[in-house]
Amino acid sequence: METIIVKNLKETKELASKFAKLLVGGEKIILSGDLGAGKTTFTKYVLEALGVKDTVTSPTFTIMREYKTKRFKIYHFDMYRISSSAEALEFGLDDYLYAGDSNSLVFIEWAENIQDILEGKFINIKISIESDDRRKFEISR
Ligand SMILES: Nc1ncnc2c1ncn2[C@@H]1O[C@H](COP(=O)(O)OP(=O)(O)OP(=O)(O)O)[C@@H](O)[C@H]1O
Ligand SMILES: [Mg+2]
Repeated sequence: METIIVKNLKETKELASKFAKLLVGGEKIILSGDLGAGKTTFTKYVLEALGVKDTVTSPTFTIMREYKTKRFKIYHFDMYRISSSAEALEFGLDDYLYAGDSNSLVFIEWAENIQDILEGKFINIKISIESDDRRKFEISR
């Protein structure tokens, strides 16, 4: 596991851009941490670093937002409002997670709510609030 302390948004952006450089396609990334920890912010910076031109916003009310770059199809999920795995399956989550698409990248916030249907390999990113602008990132691959 890799632990990184960032002091402000700029350092979060730098970390996101380093993280983005390592992505080859097919990765599934789980972001955990309290409300306001920075899951959406980190994802937004990663997507920007990958060349996503659309504005990246939180998928809280739509469950999923989709983006495209030349290399990747990107699916950003927020399971905050999903209360059961059955609901996630109805949404078609497995199609995104287990299609084995080597060009896709999946980011999931609030995966805690659908823990029992997650299997296989994920990159886990846990973000903790240390103070107003300071965050701890724990990344395990
Ligand atoms: N170093 C930092 N890294 C990330 N966000 C930071 C940092 N410092 C301050 N922030 C602020 O913390 C907030 C993070 O909000 P964000 O929506 O990304 O959280 P979230 O984890 O996605 O929350 P939710 O559980 O509601 O989806 C933003 O307002 C952001 O500007
Ligand atoms: Mg969020």
